[in-house]
Amino acid sequence: MSENPTSSELATGAAEPAVSAVEIRPATLADVEGIYALIEAASQTTTVLPRTRAAICENVRDFRVAASGSEVVGCGALHIWAVDLGEIKSLVTAERLRGHKIGRRLVTALHEEARRLGLRRVFVLTDSVEFFVRSGYAEADKATLPHKVWNECILCPKFDDCDEVALQLWLDHESGAAL
Ligand SMILES: CC(C)(COP(=O)(O)OP(=O)(O)OC[C@H]1O[C@@H](n2cnc3c(N)ncnc32)[C@H](O)[C@@H]1OP(=O)(O)O)[C@@H](O)C(=O)NCCC(=O)NCCS
Repeated sequence: MSENPTSSELATGAAEPAVSAVEIRPATLADVEGIYALIEAASQTTTVLPRTRAAICENVRDFRVAASGSEVVGCGALHIWAVDLGEIKSLVTAERLRGHKIGRRLVTALHEEARRLGLRRVFVLTDSVEFFVRSGYAEADKATLPHKVWNECILCPKFDDCDEVALQLWLDHESGAAL
């Protein structure tokens, strides 16, 4: 912490990392606890589903993290459903660092990975519609998504009162235009 802590440092008890020093990289097992903590906190107030440490370990290769040194300040995952369809999941930025483009950088990294793998379409189920629209997504017809996508909904506290929207991005056309 600096000699003169900011009000935010005083509030959180931690020095804020310089946002420019935050690195986006593939997750490793050393990041599991940090990812778990971010998702757990977000799941209390948003539609982000909680994940167990075991589930994060199993799927650690899906994750990208935003890291400041050894601290995980953001995470997001790309889950593959089919040869042409992926889902962005568990996208979370540390609350105190929101609005600094860390979420956008994570999504861009996940899109790069999706393209590298050869995916044509990625979707997200979210109530953060504006963030994804600004990232090029457009509303998707839920009927075009495979049934198995909905299996996890039972874990959601909003199961009976779902306000999630399905949004999708065609990777060949970042504008979101149909192929
Ligand atoms: C959604 C979330 C990941 C965005 O992360 P972030 O680091 O704050 O986002 P960024 O700073 O990269 O924002 C990128 C753009 O989206 C906009 N944006 C971000 N959050 C927004 C919100 N809640 N409402 C409206 N616009 C939003 C920003 O203004 C910015 O717009 P611009 O590019 O036109 O300037 C973050 O708010 C979060 O962790 N939310 C809780 C978990 C969640 O809901 N995740 C999504 C479901 S998977």
